[in-house]
Amino acid sequence: MSILVTGGAGYIGSHTVMYLKERGEDVIVLDNLQKGHRAALSDVKLYQGNLQDESLLDEIFTSNHVDSVIHFAANSLVGESVEKPLEYYENNVIGSYHLIKKMVEHKVLKIVFSSTAATYGNPVRVPIMEEDPTVPTNPYGDTKLAIEKMLQWADGAYGLKSVCLRYFNAAGADPEGKIGEDHTPESHLIPIILQAALGQRDKVSIFGDDYPTEDGTCIRDYIHVLDLADAHYLALKKISETGESGIYNLGNGTGFSVKQVIDTCRIVTGNEIRAEVAPRRAGDPAVLIASAEKAKTELGWKPQYSALEEIVSHAWNWHQHHPNGYQE
Ligand code: UFG
Repeated sequence: MSILVTGGAGYIGSHTVMYLKERGEDVIVLDNLQKGHRAALSDVKLYQGNLQDESLLDEIFTSNHVDSVIHFAANSLVGESVEKPLEYYENNVIGSYHLIKKMVEHKVLKIVFSSTAATYGNPVRVPIMEEDPTVPTNPYGDTKLAIEKMLQWADGAYGLKSVCLRYFNAAGADPEGKIGEDHTPESHLIPIILQAALGQRDKVSIFGDDYPTEDGTCIRDYIHVLDLADAHYLALKKISETGESGIYNLGNGTGFSVKQVIDTCRIVTGNEIRAEVAPRRAGDPAVLIASAEKAKTELGWKPQYSALEEIVSHAWNWHQHHPNGYQE
């Protein structure tokens, strides 16, 4: 397969690029490097630019034999999306529109799309199933849902086959420590806790301990970034073999509370890690847990790193050896 990966220099994108290359796939990357890191890509052809740049997309599709696309490039911070919704519609929805339009024009008719559990909003039940209502509670989730719909209509009209993957909480890093998670600013729970373990923060704030859960803190389904990478690979194979589109949740089907995650990080790092209860963060649902049965049955997906301790220890290995991320 010859695959264009948009957003391939980002956290999940770069792990997927590495995973595909290790399996002998031919990969090229389009990334504007606003959030992504050149150093996360070794030995990969990189086009630096934006999805809105149609002439760049023409150049990519005419000078490479691209037969499918994995589309990660997007703004992806829930809180920021509430403050800057138009930026999210422009970058995510309009950006994807240009990509899809150029794919159709150049007859590249297979895409795996990076979607999110944020498409569901407040779940009506857990574990969440793919057919459950999608009522996003923030612009980020809404833009991802709009793109899913664009893809569904493009399938009917132009035969563009898509698999949309709704991730729960991506975490962990390459077990060999070559690449990992590096966001500025960092907003995700596990890297924040590990920064506290490294002494880069004096404490972790627990956003609310009055949720209707056993210990009062929010429960999330943490999934290893390489298990996500594997699901993208399987999704591409599925489109090629069956020519069918679909939507799949990706999670472990098990939830951990914020306090449980902090305790696991204490065990893995051997560090005390100060934590303090702070007010709730706007828009956080109490519990998000995936049913990933559909991905397991239809894609043949089997997560390899489902133990939270293992996920955290891979992240810790990266953070210890790269305390400043990709910046040397
Ligand atoms: N949390 C804290 N303190 C922190 C950071 C986070 O208590 O300093 C809590 C949050 O309130 C939440 C949990 O830890 O309850 C996980 O928070 P993250 O920010 O790591 O992840 P989210 O669940 O908010 O969001 C993730 C992705 C989104 C995606 C969403 C879908 O980052 O892109 O899952 O479920 F939309």
